[in-house]
Amino acid sequence: MPSLDAPLLRALRGERPETTPVWFMRQAGRSLPEYRELRVGTRMLDACLTPDLAAEITLQPVRRHGVDAGIFFSDIVVPLRVAGIDVEIVPGRGPVFADPVRTRADVDRITAIDPAAVVAAAEPVREAVRAVVAELDTTGTPLIGFAGAPFTLAAYLVEGGPSKEHLRARAMMHADPEAWHALAGWLAQVSRGFLRTQIEAGAAAVQLFDSWAGSLAPADFRAFVAPHSAVAVDGLEVPVIHFGVGTGPVLADMRLDGRAAAVGVDWRVPLDEAAAIVGEGTTLQGNIDPALLTAPWEVLESHVRDVVERGRSARAHIVNLGHGVPPETDPTVLTRIVELVHSL
Ligand code: CP3
Repeated sequence: MPSLDAPLLRALRGERPETTPVWFMRQAGRSLPEYRELRVGTRMLDACLTPDLAAEITLQPVRRHGVDAGIFFSDIVVPLRVAGIDVEIVPGRGPVFADPVRTRADVDRITAIDPAAVVAAAEPVREAVRAVVAELDTTGTPLIGFAGAPFTLAAYLVEGGPSKEHLRARAMMHADPEAWHALAGWLAQVSRGFLRTQIEAGAAAVQLFDSWAGSLAPADFRAFVAPHSAVAVDGLEVPVIHFGVGTGPVLADMRLDGRAAAVGVDWRVPLDEAAAIVGEGTTLQGNIDPALLTAPWEVLESHVRDVVERGRSARAHIVNLGHGVPPETDPTVLTRIVELVHSL
C-alpha cells in the first residue's frame, strides 16, 4: 500500500503537505535515453501490453527524477486494442484506426463488444501495474493510473486518426445525437473498466485525460461530454484528477460536480484565476508551460516559482506541466524542477 501520507495523496485530499508534490505528464517516454533504448524493436502498443517492459518504463522516471508519483506507462487507446479494435500508434503521428467509426452501423459494430470482456482481457495491464506497485511501495510512492475520456477517445476513433479540430466527432454529436451518446456511453464503460483494472492492481489515484475537450463549445461539453466522463469516474475508490488542454472556458465543469478531486490546468490560465473558478473544494494540478523547458534555467526557474506562488491560492496544488513532456526535452531539466519545487 502506498502511504496515505504521500504528498500527492494528501494534496488530493485538500491538505498542504510540507513539500509540494510534483510529477510530469509523459514523464515516461522519449525524453529519456533509457526509454529509447528499451523501446528499440518493439512497437508502442506491444510495449504497453508486455508487462515487464511497461513496468520498467513506468519506473524509469521515478528513479531518475524523484517525482512524487509514477504514471502507469500505457496509452489511452490500449483498452481499444484489448477490445480487438484495429489500432496502431504511428510514430510522430499518433493513434490510427483501420476502420473509423462514422455511421450508426459503425457505432453498433463497436458497442456490440462487451466492456466486461475488455476488462477480462486486460491481464497484461493488471500484471504490469502489480509489478510497478510492488517496487513503488518500498518508497511509499503512489502510482497514478489513467484512461482517456470518452470525447478524446472518440476524437481519434471517429476521425480514424489525429485531427486538429476533431470535426467529425463534434459533428456526430449534432448530426446523430443518438449514435453519439451510444458511442460515448460505451467508451465511458471501457474507460471505467480500464481505470478499475489499474485500481484493483494497486493504483492509488487515477487521471482522466480529456486532452481535446478544449475544442468543444462549453454547451456541447456540458450536454454531450461531461455526463459520459462522469460515468467513467463515478464512485471509484481512489481520487480522480481530470485533465484537458484549453479548458479555461469549462474549468468549473471539469470538476464533474465534485467527482474530480483535482482539475488539471494548462498554461493558458494562471493558477490563481483557476482557483477562483474551481473554488474551495478542488485541488489544482499544473501548469508549467512546456515551451519554457528549453528556455535558460533562470527564465524557467522564475516561471516555476510563479506557478508555485499562484498555486497557493488553491486549496492544494500538485505541480505538473500544462501538457506532456515534449520528446526533445533535456531530462536533467525535469530533475532540476523537482528539486526546486521540493525546496520551495
Ligand atoms: O508518462 C506518461 O504520461 C504515461 C504514458 C502515457 C502515454 N500516452 C505514453 C505514450 C499517457 C498518459 C498517454 C496518454 C495519451 N495518449 C493521450 C492523453 C495525454 C496527452 O498527451 O494529451 C493521448 C492524446 C494519447 C494518444 C497518443 N499516443 C499520441 C498523440 C501519441 C504521440 C505520437 C507521437 O509519436 O508523437 C501517442 C504515443 C505515445 N504514448 C508515446 C508515449 C510514450 C510515444 C510513443 C513512442 O515512444 O514512440
